[in-house]
Amino acid sequence: MTALRIGQHTLANNLFVAPMAGVTDRPFRQLCKALGAGYAVSEMVTSRKDLWNSLKTSRRANHAGEPGPISVQIAGTDAPMMAEAAIYNIERGAQIIDINMGCPAKKVCNKWAGSALMQNEPLAVEIAQAVVQAARPFNVPVTLKMRTGWCDAQKNAVLLARQFEDVGIQMLTVHGRTREQGYKGFAEYDTIAAVKQAVHVPVVANGDITSPEKARDVLAYTGADAVMVGRAAQGRPWIFREIGHFLATGAHMAPPLVAEVRRLLLDHLHDHYGLYGELTGVRSARKHIAWYVRALPGGEELRQHINTIDDCLVQWQAVADYFDQLCLQMERLPQIHAVDAEQEIEELAA
Ligand SMILES: Cc1cc2nc3c(=O)[nH]c(=O)nc-3n(C[C@H](O)[C@H](O)[C@H](O)COP(=O)(O)O)c2cc1C
Repeated sequence: MTALRIGQHTLANNLFVAPMAGVTDRPFRQLCKALGAGYAVSEMVTSRKDLWNSLKTSRRANHAGEPGPISVQIAGTDAPMMAEAAIYNIERGAQIIDINMGCPAKKVCNKWAGSALMQNEPLAVEIAQAVVQAARPFNVPVTLKMRTGWCDAQKNAVLLARQFEDVGIQMLTVHGRTREQGYKGFAEYDTIAAVKQAVHVPVVANGDITSPEKARDVLAYTGADAVMVGRAAQGRPWIFREIGHFLATGAHMAPPLVAEVRRLLLDHLHDHYGLYGELTGVRSARKHIAWYVRALPGGEELRQHINTIDDCLVQWQAVADYFDQLCLQMERLPQIHAVDAEQEIEELAA
């Protein structure tokens, strides 16, 4: 695959980490980038000014030490507020602004944001245009992430894609589900292929990409310029180098050494505590630990044990001890640990 450009930024490769609120914070994005992701979009930042000084938003806007380009996703319902949010984030280091029209979480949709905007085409286009105009003086490109449509009978991604391109959106990501589907059923790729045919800007295919083969097949089927991986990267950030290796050589990489996963997870925890502080960090790290170990021997016992620990040092040591034991049992991880758990999207996004 040839490297993609968004405005003046050349991306390292065409394998992207999906924005996931409550998951793709700066430590996780950095880890994915170090393990082969060419690009990562931050968790969404609200366009509500009254929340900009909250701890949550300031953590989400923390990009310290992250390799560029820094891409910040904004969410909201009002064009002037979204324009202001774009400028606010650009002034704090955003080099690319991404507009969220893909999130189905109730909290977002009740306020007519996220994928709910796809039901109101004039407002969706007005928002895109306002953000592009606000970012233009800073030479900051604007991208947009959406779904295939509101519901099965109303798949308007192609119609909207053309209008977004006309107002200056420079890259479009399409998650192959409707808003109505939430995360149920399967992603479909025909609409993504149709969007790719309809516009000239790069198109990114997203949804249910869980393996190197699936990445290859979705790229070939849709003609998309890149693939974006979300849930399959949870607890498995090395999926990007596995996909990259497979696309380049047609062969699978060996699964990671248990000793490497031990080091990656312990470093991840260290960065995580650093961003969130000990009190919050010990709790928000639990889900990451559970994802890393979910298909490993003794993983469920570790998860249960971790949920009883309220101290970072104790948590870190429990993970270290678990992996020390695992190193004695196996040299490498099993070939794949698939993602099948229903995600607590709204809880995490809240
Ligand atoms: C926990 C969670 C949080 C998410 N938060 C966001 C978000 O903030 N912005 C967004 O555009 N999409 C969000 N998404 C959707 C993902 O970016 C992606 O489109 C979706 O998970 C489908 O890709 P996947 O099948 O590879 O997971 C979220 C998904 C999950 C699972």
